[in-house]
Amino acid sequence: MLIVKIKTENSAKNKTSLLCGFVLENSNKVLGLPKFDTKTESAIDQSLKDMEGKLGRLSVIPISGEKHVQRILLAGIGKKENLTKDTIRFVSGKIAQKARELKLKEFSIISPPSFISEPISAVSQIIEGSKMALYKFDKFKSEKAENSPDLTIIISNSNKISKAIKIAEIVADGVIFTKSIANLPPNECTPTTLANFAKNMSKNNKMICKIFSEPELQKKGFGGISAVGQGSKNQSKLIILEHIKGPRNEKPIVLVGKAVTFDTGGISLKPGNAMDEMKFDKCGGCTVLGIMKSISELKLPINVVGIVPSVENMLGGESYRPGDIIKLYSGKTAEILNTDAEGRLILADALAYGEKQYSPKAMIDFATLTGACIVALGTNVAAIVSNDEKLTKKITDSSKRTTEEVWELPLNQDYMDMIKSDVADMKNVGIGRAAGTITAAAFLKNAIEKTPWTHIDIAGVAWTQGATKEKSYNPKGATGFGVRLILDYLQNL
Ligand code: BES
Ligand code: MG
Ligand code: ZN
Repeated sequence: MLIVKIKTENSAKNKTSLLCGFVLENSNKVLGLPKFDTKTESAIDQSLKDMEGKLGRLSVIPISGEKHVQRILLAGIGKKENLTKDTIRFVSGKIAQKARELKLKEFSIISPPSFISEPISAVSQIIEGSKMALYKFDKFKSEKAENSPDLTIIISNSNKISKAIKIAEIVADGVIFTKSIANLPPNECTPTTLANFAKNMSKNNKMICKIFSEPELQKKGFGGISAVGQGSKNQSKLIILEHIKGPRNEKPIVLVGKAVTFDTGGISLKPGNAMDEMKFDKCGGCTVLGIMKSISELKLPINVVGIVPSVENMLGGESYRPGDIIKLYSGKTAEILNTDAEGRLILADALAYGEKQYSPKAMIDFATLTGACIVALGTNVAAIVSNDEKLTKKITDSSKRTTEEVWELPLNQDYMDMIKSDVADMKNVGIGRAAGTITAAAFLKNAIEKTPWTHIDIAGVAWTQGATKEKSYNPKGATGFGVRLILDYLQNL
């Protein structure tokens, strides 16, 4: 675990095994580092020349003769004009990983001055980056990689920022929670497992948790969830978490997340290569659970409902088939032309239920919905499709602040027409491979009558893939994309 301590006085006066400071590219000083004796100063100068402040470069200088500082670490943050809202976050992640590698019990980071980053944002980024970077999925390793003893980070900062620190810790814990359940293998994580995570979380954090199971799902009209789940021996679940801490009559925000604990494609079977990655097809749902955990711990005075439809998409004698026509929760019928386009079926049910049950202010859904999203935007940017400009604007503002990147795709009537069916109200695929991400969103839009809604396709960003940009705080596996984004949105309502 990472224990965070803040010192408001100059950290260089404190005892530490590693004192870390940031360095701009080609600068001859470490930001905020106080003066040391001449021998140490010349070692620092030499190191500065060697590492040149290049982005992400670290240089450790052992200090002899000093009583309070055992080592100094210089951390390059690149050129001033290239600084982003993410720089301090991922460089801090690298520092924390270095401290762990050196088997330290504690390290100190000197907060960058305000011309680098505004103080609250800097501290948040240091905490988020360090915490997220230290997470490692080693649950199934006999030898734990880190055997991790507690590591204390001391941040020197002259401002009173205790609230920001607490928030950053809870946000990072939400991301880590999402990663840790999203990384679970499909034999260990079924819809029932996710439902149990939600139940436990609700008890600890005073949320209301409702779980709908089979055959109740069928009876209540969740035709999409029932159809997709019918081929698996693992029972389907609809997981609902209510955090009602705002004014009683205030409409909630509803968050929906796709949780297919494994997607074989069903009868329209996927090809074998990389099919194992379809254990990550539950990432949207895991993101919603992580957000709900953090919201409740932050005690945000708002009303938010998380809805997670969870199924396993398997093939067998009981599976749904291409050609089937099913009735969704919205009352609309859908012709199944490809059983691998299952996500939209379970999400359509959840969105329609969310709107009918809660008359929400807004609905936001997360889903690893289409391979086409990776073709369109790659693996570092999520696609958004929406029926409401204002909601989209707020989410893109949060995206800028958190650097969880999104890009909007259009959704006009022509796309809606592409999913018209000859025999039912709609079909679950578009026309060939054209605009696959948008036609999937078009299907979802049909589930909603009037609520402002934004769909976020996280197929490319939910876990690290071949073309994923390397970031210290996103080690291999699930990234928890969307948790920081939506927590920022909710805190700025
Ligand atoms: N879970 C997949 C989408 C996916 C694929 C996400 C690869 C991330 C990486 C989804 O259920 C799916 O299979 N979609 C199909 C839809 C198609 C049949 C219309 C796809 O994208 O191929
Ligand atoms: Mg599929
Ligand atoms: Zn899927």
